[in-house]
Amino acid sequence: MNGGAALRFVAASARYPGADRDAIAEIDLDVAPGEFVVLLGPSGCGKSTLLRTVNRLVALARGRIELDGADVAATDPVTLRRGIGYAIQAVGLFAHMSVARNVAVVPSLLGWEPARIAARVDELLALVRLDPARYRDRFPRALSGGEAQRVGVARALAAEPRVLLMDEPFGAVDAIVRTELQRELIDIVARLGTTTLFVTHDVEEALRLADRLVVMRDGRIEGQGTVEELLEAPASPYVRALLRADDPIDRAYFEHARSALRGSR
Ligand SMILES: Nc1ncnc2c1ncn2[C@@H]1O[C@H](COP(=O)(O)OP(=O)(O)OP(=O)(O)O)[C@@H](O)[C@H]1O
Ligand SMILES: [Mg+2]
Repeated sequence: MNGGAALRFVAASARYPGADRDAIAEIDLDVAPGEFVVLLGPSGCGKSTLLRTVNRLVALARGRIELDGADVAATDPVTLRRGIGYAIQAVGLFAHMSVARNVAVVPSLLGWEPARIAARVDELLALVRLDPARYRDRFPRALSGGEAQRVGVARALAAEPRVLLMDEPFGAVDAIVRTELQRELIDIVARLGTTTLFVTHDVEEALRLADRLVVMRDGRIEGQGTVEELLEAPASPYVRALLRADDPIDRAYFEHARSALRGSR
């Protein structure tokens, strides 16, 4: 496997056309190879925008983003995106393509041999606990929401990207399937060493998944650190309140859920 890339934001700011303020402002963030970083914050704080600046769906107004030291603004966007897995809440599967072809989109673009693609598709479907024999020839309309999100995750992982961007990828599934998908994702990225930026506005999900947590507010980073650091010493009253760091019952529950999920790492 490839192992993860290093990702660095340097004073990165972005503004949508016609907007009177930056959607993200002065973002400084260093993500180590293989690190799992969760972006947490309320609706509209800039989480999705931050992800989209990495694969250049949104251009920076100022600052820069480096992937393994190379400025992404200097990399051809198509080449860049083929090397970055991207999963979004809406899933965005191609309705006219089978599950197998959906998962195979990037490997096909990269010109992999058909036999290698077929093997990879089956391997990925098995990874996300979808029996390849039952699911590979189905069309998206014949999938449940949770199954479709698994296919979306499989597609994001298909070409063994060194960076994975996940924008609320489990938003539409129930709590049990969500926990299962979280566990699968943690196992997969740990095995592959994939550098992951994962967006959520679900505090519990953030606390369970994060190697490092980045709390955003109004386009800026309000605080960042390991879960333990942020719970012990929240960077601000806002972070403290968001993480409910003062509530001993919530704390005990989060710690239990986290160790149950990540105990093997
Ligand atoms: N395509 C766009 N054009 C103009 N403004 C946009 C666009 N997309 C987002 N914005 C604005 O940029 C800001 C950040 O939006 P963003 O989608 O990054 O938030 P978010 O943290 O992902 O929110 P949510 O949790 O609701 O998904 C918001 O004020 C939003 O209204
Ligand atoms: Mg969003």
